[in-house]
Amino acid sequence: MVPGLEIYMMNKTAIQIIEKPEWVSWDDIRQCLYEAHAPNREKGINMTHYLWPAEKIKESLGEHGVMLVALDGGKVVGTAAFAERTQKRWYTDGSCYAFLCFDSVIPYYTGKGIFGLLDKKREEKAKEYGYNVLIFDTHSKNAHRIDIALRNGFRLVRFFRASSNDHYSVIMAKWLRGKSYSHGYCVYRYQISKWKTLVKSFL
Ligand SMILES: CC(C)(COP(=O)(O)OP(=O)(O)OC[C@H]1O[C@@H](n2cnc3c(N)ncnc32)[C@H](O)[C@@H]1OP(=O)(O)O)[C@@H](O)C(=O)NCCC(=O)NCCS
Repeated sequence: MVPGLEIYMMNKTAIQIIEKPEWVSWDDIRQCLYEAHAPNREKGINMTHYLWPAEKIKESLGEHGVMLVALDGGKVVGTAAFAERTQKRWYTDGSCYAFLCFDSVIPYYTGKGIFGLLDKKREEKAKEYGYNVLIFDTHSKNAHRIDIALRNGFRLVRFFRASSNDHYSVIMAKWLRGKSYSHGYCVYRYQISKWKTLVKSFL
């Protein structure tokens, strides 16, 4: 097997999970994100990043960012990325953390473990880069993504009103090493943030 490459067999099709090669354009990534979010749009779960122009997706990853892609031949059928962020919150360990973003698998390919492979490879990369904490946010109604994260050891840590002000979002965290927090403590902090956010929105 070629180093750094993972293959997933699906109906005799080889799906490659690799870091974005040069020949894959940022517009291919944007297209994959847009297609992947179609089921969310149908459920009224509207996020904004898949509407970003390709250049903004690239820029948001910064110089330490990593974009992984799942390829079916020359077609991008899935994506998963992380960017470096620093923000002092109780769950960020006070240091740089890996902010996970641009998770997508287009509908024809979902439910077959492709995201599982992307997610696993991304976590390995983040560890290799020395990050202690993985963080991401999502729409509070994106139950499928939240469920995947809970199964993968993430905890809900914060509930907030999205900047678009038309929905609530949640933040989830996973500690790879160093300081970690119990399930009970995370539930307590999450419920407090939820309560404060909801009270504020009714004032
Ligand atoms: C969320 C999304 C990326 C999942 O893609 P997918 O290819 O269907 O996911 P998978 O097939 O790998 O995962 C499905 C199964 O593996 C599990 N799984 C996936 N990754 C896992 C991980 N890292 N650890 C543990 N379990 C995992 C899931 O819980 C699920 O289990 P099930 O078979 O019992 O249902 C895809 O549905 C999507 O693109 N949704 C729209 C875009 C979106 O909402 N993105 C997230 C924005 S924050």
